[in-house]
Amino acid sequence: MGTASGLLTVVLLVLLSIVGFCHGGVTSSYVRKAEASPDLPKEAFPPPPGFNAPEQVHITQGDSGGQGVIISWVTPLMWHPNFVTYWAAEGNHKNYKLIASAKITSYKYYTYTSGYIHHATIKGLEYDTKYFYEIGIGECARLFHFRTPPKVGPDVPYTFGIIGDLGQTSNSNETLEHYIANPTAQTMLFVGDLSYADDHPNHDNERWDTWGRFIEKSAAYQPWIWTAGNHELDYAPQLKEYTPFKPYMNRYHVPYRSSQSTSPLWYSIKRASAHIIVLSSYSAYGKYTPQYTWLQKELTRVNRAETPWLIVLLHSPWYNSNNYHYMEGESMRVTFESWFVESKVDIVFAGHVHAYERSERISNVRYNITDGLSTPIKDQSAPIYITIGDGGNVEGIADSFTDPQPSYSAFREASFGHAILAIKNRTHAHYTWHRNQDSNAVAADSLWIYNRHYFPVEELSH
Ligand SMILES: [Fe+2]
Repeated sequence: MGTASGLLTVVLLVLLSIVGFCHGGVTSSYVRKAEASPDLPKEAFPPPPGFNAPEQVHITQGDSGGQGVIISWVTPLMWHPNFVTYWAAEGNHKNYKLIASAKITSYKYYTYTSGYIHHATIKGLEYDTKYFYEIGIGECARLFHFRTPPKVGPDVPYTFGIIGDLGQTSNSNETLEHYIANPTAQTMLFVGDLSYADDHPNHDNERWDTWGRFIEKSAAYQPWIWTAGNHELDYAPQLKEYTPFKPYMNRYHVPYRSSQSTSPLWYSIKRASAHIIVLSSYSAYGKYTPQYTWLQKELTRVNRAETPWLIVLLHSPWYNSNNYHYMEGESMRVTFESWFVESKVDIVFAGHVHAYERSERISNVRYNITDGLSTPIKDQSAPIYITIGDGGNVEGIADSFTDPQPSYSAFREASFGHAILAIKNRTHAHYTWHRNQDSNAVAADSLWIYNRHYFPVEELSH
């Protein structure tokens, strides 16, 4: 009798552990040292030599489909030179030089006055072509290059990099150098929190300049697709600065009008085989708001026959099992999650939490009240949620995960790094996450991701 009841207890314990308690994924055993990481001194980011030399050069997509580019730069002392010379390095129009002039903006923030911020939008470029561009004149001329994407189409392979919450510390530099040394990525999907200037007294906007110089080594050569995070708000009534996103929106332009958006904080682009939607966690998104009505229409415009991969970028994650920023993305999730499931979004990339986490395909759309478990359920129409706020900024690592690991969390690790999404065709994409301490060939997390529209089978997570 005693043996039988003991056996029953063991069986019950096993069943309970399967059903309720420890069905989560992997919490990596790798533990990064929680060391202090101050921003590098301003002197670490000197401007280029020469009087009024163009600096902080960066590019982003400039139209809906990838034949456009926005080239941005800052001249510190004079508005001139206000044009960029560009030419194809190959193809029928090789070496035929053209000139585009820029719109100039500048702004004041507390006691800071920006330099002249130039944004030149160029459209009608050839697809899949290398271009050179030159900014500045005489001894201050600076030469850069980029490659346009292939024409939008369902089986066009294309590789994206993903970084979030970068900042400007030695860890940030490790992340960016590691990313640059990984030669495969063609475009950066940046999920918000850029300079962390607002962590300095009076939101020291010179830190926006140093950050622009810092990222130039990548952002001048491949497009960075921008998402706004909370560190872009720069809303500071105590400084009489009442306009949210003022430095960010002056410095980082995006092609929002090409996707019928009325704000640069939410927009979309098509690039190769991907339709990428950018949302703002820190703008209104409730029913009837501009962002809400735009997203509702935007999802009807997605054409999976043209762009099979539907990717969303936003800053505050909807699924996060870290004690840092826990459930901050919840109200946006409640507002939009059912749309993402109906639209079969493939992947949602977020930042904000300074660690790495990948979810299972789960949703909270359908509730099963009677089973007594108020937990997300597996849903093969749901996106994979990836939190990649691990760029290495001044605020340090978020090393406090909830315990036990919840069932929706497939893999998580408190380290700095970047990710690569290599789309192969309409059905398959290879995804890898690279922690800074490893060589580039090492993927600390990897997964073959299957397209939700063309091949909606369950991925082998681990
Ligand atoms: Fe953030």
